[in-house]
Amino acid sequence: MENIMKTEHAPTIQRADYRPLAWTVETVDLHFRLDPEATLVTNRMSCVRKRDAADGPIRLWSEALERVSLSVDGQAPQALREDGGVIEIDAAGDRVVVEVVTRVNPRANTTLSGLYLSNGGFFTQCEAEGFRRITCFPDRPDVMARYTVTLEADREACPVLLSNGNLVDAGLLPGGRHYAKWEDPFRKPSYLFALVAAKLVAFERKVETMSGREVLLQVWVEEGNLDRVEHAMDSLVHSMRWDEETFGLELDLDRFMIVAVADFNMGAMENKGLNIFNTKFILAKPDTATDLDYENVESVVAHEYFHNWTGNRVTCRDWFQLTLKEGLTVFRDQQFSADMLARAAGPEGAASARAVKRIDDVRVLRAAQFPEDGGPMAHPIRPDSYQEINNFYTATVYEKGAEVIRMLHTLLGQEGFRNGMDLYFSYFDGQAVTCDDFVEVMSEANNGFDLDQFMRWYEQAGTPRVKASGEWNAADGSYTLTLAQSTPATPGQHVKLPLVIPVALGLIGADGRDLPLRLEGEAQAGATTRVLKLTEEAQVFRFVGLAAEPVPSLLRGFSAPVILELDEDDARLAFRMAHDADPCNRWDAAQRYAERVALALAADPAATVPEAFVRAFRALLNDAALDPAFRAQALALPGEAYLLERMSPADPAALRGALVRMMRALGATLAADWLEVVERLQVAGEYRYHPGDAGRRALVNLALRYLAAAGVAEGLARAEARFAAATNMTERFGALAALVHSTSPARTAALQAFHDRHRDDALVLDKWFALQAGAWRWDEAAEPALARVRVLLSDPAFSLSNPNKVYALLGTFFRANPGEFHAADGSGHAFWAEQVIALDARNPQVAARMARALENWRRFTPALQASIRPQLERVLATPGLSADVAEIVGKAVG
Ligand code: PHE
Ligand code: ZN
Repeated sequence: MENIMKTEHAPTIQRADYRPLAWTVETVDLHFRLDPEATLVTNRMSCVRKRDAADGPIRLWSEALERVSLSVDGQAPQALREDGGVIEIDAAGDRVVVEVVTRVNPRANTTLSGLYLSNGGFFTQCEAEGFRRITCFPDRPDVMARYTVTLEADREACPVLLSNGNLVDAGLLPGGRHYAKWEDPFRKPSYLFALVAAKLVAFERKVETMSGREVLLQVWVEEGNLDRVEHAMDSLVHSMRWDEETFGLELDLDRFMIVAVADFNMGAMENKGLNIFNTKFILAKPDTATDLDYENVESVVAHEYFHNWTGNRVTCRDWFQLTLKEGLTVFRDQQFSADMLARAAGPEGAASARAVKRIDDVRVLRAAQFPEDGGPMAHPIRPDSYQEINNFYTATVYEKGAEVIRMLHTLLGQEGFRNGMDLYFSYFDGQAVTCDDFVEVMSEANNGFDLDQFMRWYEQAGTPRVKASGEWNAADGSYTLTLAQSTPATPGQHVKLPLVIPVALGLIGADGRDLPLRLEGEAQAGATTRVLKLTEEAQVFRFVGLAAEPVPSLLRGFSAPVILELDEDDARLAFRMAHDADPCNRWDAAQRYAERVALALAADPAATVPEAFVRAFRALLNDAALDPAFRAQALALPGEAYLLERMSPADPAALRGALVRMMRALGATLAADWLEVVERLQVAGEYRYHPGDAGRRALVNLALRYLAAAGVAEGLARAEARFAAATNMTERFGALAALVHSTSPARTAALQAFHDRHRDDALVLDKWFALQAGAWRWDEAAEPALARVRVLLSDPAFSLSNPNKVYALLGTFFRANPGEFHAADGSGHAFWAEQVIALDARNPQVAARMARALENWRRFTPALQASIRPQLERVLATPGLSADVAEIVGKAVG
């Protein structure tokens, strides 16, 4: 047994305790007799003793299943021990066939892990440890086997039978049943196994790969959704081309399938040759999906497709290495999306389109990952321990993990990175490896590039701070920049060592233009942006040959996942808002200025929005040379979650009050400018998903938000008209959101009209739920969001069993509406406990995600802490609490 530390709820698994298994599995022959309540699974495994392994038993995991029989080479096993879901069998010799028959109940499986039912069809989800809920198996990613799968089901209920790989046989059976047999030519870990047996139809396309092979692509959906799969298919084809062109990676199967399912815990899953997707990330048509939905479909399709190489062909040795596949694959999908946007924008708009995508990614990192890194769940991108692996599919592993890969890309350069990837596949194809393997190979492919210190990014948790200070010396025309780094202590990790931090920088001259950069000792000035490598606790960089004091622009392109601390007065922020040549930093300057104003207003209810801020804001708004998509980013206030993280103590009500005042002031003072945006930037003609059009729609929608917030009559009239006349979801929903975030009496009727129009569309209703759960209150008389959420909980379209519904209604309320959730009377907190407990009984993964909404409670005001603590304790004291929720709440209370 692994060395486990028992706590009250769940043992803690340590990374250091990894041991190879004594036995592995070569081939798996699975047979499923599918039945909604009693599915019989026969699993014949050829088990092989590993040559290099110490003596030991065959080890199988099992969970929530009924074992009907187990035999070893056809006999009852000689010695079998069972302890907490682990079965150990002593076997003689080097090869045995273990046959296990299990019975499972898909209908009763509300966890959506393992084999479950959704709308009458059978689906599986095995990552991370769902396969053990189907059959007894050495359910670890370092056991890679070849699978043959036979599915047998009722023909009428489940006309389509799918599994990984190639279809090798199919036919009819007596009693209205039929079967299909699938063979996956590639070895894979059990977490990549999948089956689907349901009533679906396929949208198909045949394409040629780079080597000239013809492959069949299929997107499987319910028949009524066939009119909204084309974008997903296009995205798949684009992903294939991009991976061929960018990394020389080709699809390795003759057929690649995507299946959409309405009940799914996560976004999507990269099962070999049979990706299973949450419908939210497949279905899109103009009338039901927004530009953002289109963008998300494209990037999630790409993400899962890219996993075929980074994840499937080369997989993780153990779950601590999760970022090996996730950080790398997120980086790949981010690059893909940036390239796609740049291509669509054309040569003129390409740079801005890329920057807008980068800003999007930075926003997500700051809103989700920074708070995680500053709270009780803080962990390195490669964690050292966990209680429940499902809790570690985090923003840190994914998004910060992608930032770490991006820094490697920056340090090694595009070509060096590509060489590293090539070497990675040449060494490790078909293997289960570690993050060290990856970083070592990157070094080896780049003449032994020293990455030893870089590895600390894998080891240390917490968001590093980089403090910058500059000194101008007029006498010799030099500018001395001092950069100092530090990382705050995180739970269980008090000592932090200096990291390798690439700091991209530029120096801006008084005329707003970038200055050529020349460091002391260099013969001549070079580029206007360069990357400094900060590796010590503090380092000094001296720039020479300058005529006047420059304005530094640091961390351009967000070159490292750190918090930059730099003293800049309002005038300097306004200057960078107007002139910084790096769009990310221009955006960031606007965000910093807005943050400063928001926090000042939150601290002083009598304070007003400074005129200078309004002026800087207006200048950006009216800068017609700027891409509308960029303006929409720069003029949107920073997210509430990010601001709360910057506020000490966090006071959601005060912050909300400040943001409302800002929205009103900016809406009212700039009403004419906003109205002009609405007038001028309308997109004419039929909807197309295109970054240029999407940027205009985004800016118009933002204009309507400000106008509606300020109660500008003409703006409200525009929103109403746009809502009524909209021919696509982006405009319809944008106008509706503006109305809901106003005091306009039209908002109730608009919500009703929206509901009635889309009443039969689950994904659109999710938007309707989320909008109400996330609504701010614009006057004291308005209904609190919690009251509305309670009403919606019993709406016939709502269901606690469907994760999308839970995320839309409860997730939005808990995570995206802090001003309402943290009501002073504590009603939100009590409601949170009630819902987490109810959810946990059905679906611990979903419950744990909701539970995380309060993990940073110690950052709040004492009054809020006093209201939250008893609710955390109430959840923790719930009998039968899952390990998932227990870990989150236990660490929060800790
Ligand atoms: N591996 C999936 C992805 O990143 C996410 C996932 C994890 C899905 C666990 C389901 C369960 O694409
Ligand atoms: Zn992934």
